[in-house]
Amino acid sequence: MASSSKPEGSMLWGGRFTGGLDPLMVKYNESIYFDRVLYKQDILGSIAFARANAKAGIITQDEFQQIERGLREVEKEWQAGTFTIVPGVDEDIHTANERRLGEIIGKQVAGKLHTGRSRNEQVVCDMRMWLRDELRQIESHLVAFLRVLAARAEQEIDLVMPGYTHLQRAQPIRWSHWLLSYGLAFAADLERLREVISRVNRNPLGCGALAGNPFGLDRDMITKELGFDGLLWNSMGGVADRDFVTETLQWGSMLMQHVSRWAEDLIIYSTAEFGFVRLADAYSTGSSLMPQKKNPDSLELLRGKSGRAFGHMAGFMMTQKGLPSTYNKDLQESVEPMLDHVKTVSDSIQIANGVLATLTTNAEKMRAALDPFMLATDVADYLVRKGVPFRETHHISGRCVAKSEETGIPMNELSYEQMKAIDPRFEEDISEAFNYDTSVERRSAKGGTSKSSVMEQIKVLEEMLG
Ligand SMILES: *[C@@H]1O[C@H](CO)[C@@H](O)[C@H](O)[C@H]1NC(C)=O
Repeated sequence: MASSSKPEGSMLWGGRFTGGLDPLMVKYNESIYFDRVLYKQDILGSIAFARANAKAGIITQDEFQQIERGLREVEKEWQAGTFTIVPGVDEDIHTANERRLGEIIGKQVAGKLHTGRSRNEQVVCDMRMWLRDELRQIESHLVAFLRVLAARAEQEIDLVMPGYTHLQRAQPIRWSHWLLSYGLAFAADLERLREVISRVNRNPLGCGALAGNPFGLDRDMITKELGFDGLLWNSMGGVADRDFVTETLQWGSMLMQHVSRWAEDLIIYSTAEFGFVRLADAYSTGSSLMPQKKNPDSLELLRGKSGRAFGHMAGFMMTQKGLPSTYNKDLQESVEPMLDHVKTVSDSIQIANGVLATLTTNAEKMRAALDPFMLATDVADYLVRKGVPFRETHHISGRCVAKSEETGIPMNELSYEQMKAIDPRFEEDISEAFNYDTSVERRSAKGGTSKSSVMEQIKVLEEMLG
């Protein structure tokens, strides 16, 4: 006859704890030490839920008023820093607030707060409200950063420097053109962010544990009170959906990738070998050993933290993969990456702004780094304007480069005779091709590096900021 196993007296399979709670499990399970940041959203959500329950006739108006008054007291305690978490009892922010409410207004009425509500919908409601508010803050930081970028681009439009491909000098460009190459990528991040916010800001309250609310709750009323843009329309999806977190992490990962590449360019430009920019002291650090050093710590941290942001995203996507539908406790693992990600991204944008607002540029160093070879394309283009096919002009210009290398004479100092000997179609006006400013100004089609094109880009960017 089969008998059930009896752990007592048989520690071999009985494990560490045979009755009661494993204290490590209690700690392993609790989230109060990080989810308490949601205290305010939890209180606002509870008030809105109780108000809707009063309207539905599930609790009386008097009971609602007691609940609201009590919850406002709890909120004050959090704000004043006097709320005392009871270890082992307040396992999460929702339990903690409700426990305290019971102490303030009495368990009889406090016990009615949760009528028809599930922890599942409550958790996700708090998270969505919190994230919406944080992302709006991030949106304003990003706009502020882009305003600095646009202002710099306009003010320093006359600075010309080498543009690189493969990190090799390629063609002369405006410093502002480089700035805007990132500026417009960040502006696309801003557009994406606004879309993410609209999907984060949906109301899950009224979804119940998974099947919906049985008391005819007016969900639209809650949506309005809590400032949501709309409803989550399927209760099963509503309690389990963490796509709003994933999407935020994906968004932040891409933004941080842009931040990281931008930082990498500036690290290179700030070396003594380049010297195009110099960081303000506030954003660089001296070496503990070598007195002459000025390290771009701020930019290195921005580059480094992008890996961490990406890690939040990859980790949480793995957490969700393979979960069965509706709520599973695994989803608690969405909170910490969300909190750290939001802080990392928000701080990074503000640091990037500080770095950009305070760095100094060195126009002479930029210009000194220009090399006549960077005008080889302009020499080819010169002949194109004389009607020679580009395939041919590319080759001819290549011979000018070779001549310069061979003789050691800079390409722009080759004599007219030397040029003519390479191709008879060169005329005296070839000297005009050897001018960096002219080269830059010629790129005047939309999106190019001429002054008018760059000014147009600044306008486009500013319009995207709204
Ligand atoms: C884990 O925490 C939840 C609240 O988040 C609670 O309902 C549950 O009883 C806890 N479980 C254990 C095993 O501690």
